[in-house]
Amino acid sequence: MLKGKKIILGITGSIAAYKATYLICGLVKKGAEVQVVITPAGKEFITPVTLSALSSHPVISEFFSNRDGSWHSHVDLGLWADAMLIAPATAASIGKMANGIADNMLITTYLSCKAPVFVAPAMDLDMFAHPATQQNIDRLRGFGNHIIEPGEGELASHLVGKGRMEEPDRIIEILEEFFTGSQDLQNKKILITAGPTYEKIDPVRFIGNYSSGKMGFALAEECARRGAEVTLVTGPVSLTVTHPQIRRIQVESAEEMYKAAMAEYPQADAGILCAAVADYRPEQVCTEKIKREKTGEMQLRLIPNRDIAASLGAIKREDQLLVGFALETTDGLTNAASKLEKKNLDYIVLNSLQDLGAGFQVDTNRITIIDRKGEITAYPLKGKKEVAQDIIHKLVTLVS
Ligand code: CTP
Repeated sequence: MLKGKKIILGITGSIAAYKATYLICGLVKKGAEVQVVITPAGKEFITPVTLSALSSHPVISEFFSNRDGSWHSHVDLGLWADAMLIAPATAASIGKMANGIADNMLITTYLSCKAPVFVAPAMDLDMFAHPATQQNIDRLRGFGNHIIEPGEGELASHLVGKGRMEEPDRIIEILEEFFTGSQDLQNKKILITAGPTYEKIDPVRFIGNYSSGKMGFALAEECARRGAEVTLVTGPVSLTVTHPQIRRIQVESAEEMYKAAMAEYPQADAGILCAAVADYRPEQVCTEKIKREKTGEMQLRLIPNRDIAASLGAIKREDQLLVGFALETTDGLTNAASKLEKKNLDYIVLNSLQDLGAGFQVDTNRITIIDRKGEITAYPLKGKKEVAQDIIHKLVTLVS
């Protein structure tokens, strides 16, 4: 799967830099072309001669070649690559990447890179655990970068903890899995609801919520990437779909979303209900803009919307799956488990608004999945793309 793939290997100043030699050998053995870019600090740990001999390419470190003054174009390099892997990635380099501090060739290449980026942190346990590092890593996740979590073990400082760069063999496996693009949802039809709903008050006003649709769109892309035909029923969001196997049905209100979902679900193998549906709508929609002077104190009478998840749960066949979400501020597990039961779902994805980095308008999420057998799986904070992978991985284990 890595045959012919062009990989930029970014090496920064960590003792784990020696492991880059195993990475190069492993990647080259799999048929990949490897171009090493190293930071000045990286060169203190491993020599460019070793790296260029193993990769069969001159190692790039400076903006200019000292020998002939030729310019190394980070832009061309960024466009050339099928993937960029930064391993080891120190706390300093992660900080620069997170904040766009382009003061060396590696960071400028990272900022120019259009290809997927994989980051394998390596550092002392306390540096890794520091909120500054963790926030920078979350930021990278938010950019869509893939973080290859470090392992636990004895570190260069002889302290024991989390911070050891993931082993080269496993890093290569992760790249392979990425490029394999498993087609385990081929011929499956998936219905996804996403975004907020807007409930009209008058021609210029509505009741809405902060949902950005990012989670639902990431789920749609992930299902399509795995071969499914996706119908995405979405409320008003400013996102676009990129995969050709996603059919978008645009709606505005909960009632429109209900009608579209009920019409589509019978043809689907699974439904994933990610939309933040308004539970109530104004009983009356004024056809003219409501004027302040006519009303004085204003009262808005609300009536309940239909529960899309419960309605789909009621018509669900044996051969279909249904997945719901629960966004809770208190008693997350209890509330989510009761929604799972009430709406006849196969599993429910809980995100708690109390978790930093989870919820609306952010690029990260921290989820817990609860299934019908009562199995509870809690995941760490991840980018919404990676969260989508976890949610769909669960779907794949249940889909027949
Ligand atoms: N949902 C739905 N239709 C609704 C309300 C919710 O399809 N009218 C779905 C959501 O997409 C989500 C799940 O039901 O998958 C749970 O949504 P949530 O808002 O957490 O639950 P509610 O049933 O609305 O309960 P409450 O707002 O009281 O927590």
